[in-house]
Amino acid sequence: MILQVDEMMNLAVRVLSEERLIHTLGVADWADELARHHGLDPIKARCAGLVHDLAKEMPIKDQLGLARRWDLLCYTEDEQNPYVLHGPVAAYWLEHFYGLEDADVLAAVANHTLGRPEMSLLEMLIYSADLTESNRDFPKVDNLRQSLYDDLEKGTLDCVKHTLIYLKEGKRPIHPLTQLTYDDLQRRINFGT
Ligand SMILES: [Fe+2]
Ligand SMILES: [Fe+2]
Repeated sequence: MILQVDEMMNLAVRVLSEERLIHTLGVADWADELARHHGLDPIKARCAGLVHDLAKEMPIKDQLGLARRWDLLCYTEDEQNPYVLHGPVAAYWLEHFYGLEDADVLAAVANHTLGRPEMSLLEMLIYSADLTESNRDFPKVDNLRQSLYDDLEKGTLDCVKHTLIYLKEGKRPIHPLTQLTYDDLQRRINFGT
């Protein structure tokens, strides 16, 4: 299936609650703007933004059941914190049941919650736009937005760092993929690779 913004928009409108749709449109707009600014494909960015949370409102036990059936559980932490599964579940569904073939968009949807080492620029874009879209309001969110505008890779590192601090302060578990993502981005920025 060819990637089309209106198809992805229809899916989002059909599946999501009003509140989640507002967030989703915020991610799509901000991802589109950042993509244009950084010379990435704005259609892919908007489409990935529109479908990134497609599975978010599915009951957690259903997400877990699908993740088991589709072999998407990679870490013991996935089952302990199943809220991290909605990205991989949505990406799998889009690929295998909806027929979406765009690997870049599928990866951006799958990895928007935890990140992963060796993220593509589109994956960074959706990960970061999810945290900093215009409806998000927390101290220093404007600093993160500016950092993303200045340098997508460095801005994404700042977003991952913000998330790690937030989790540590809240004494919440840190998924190994988020720590690996941070370490990888830091290495890439330090060594220019
Ligand atoms: Fe999400
Ligand atoms: Fe989201």
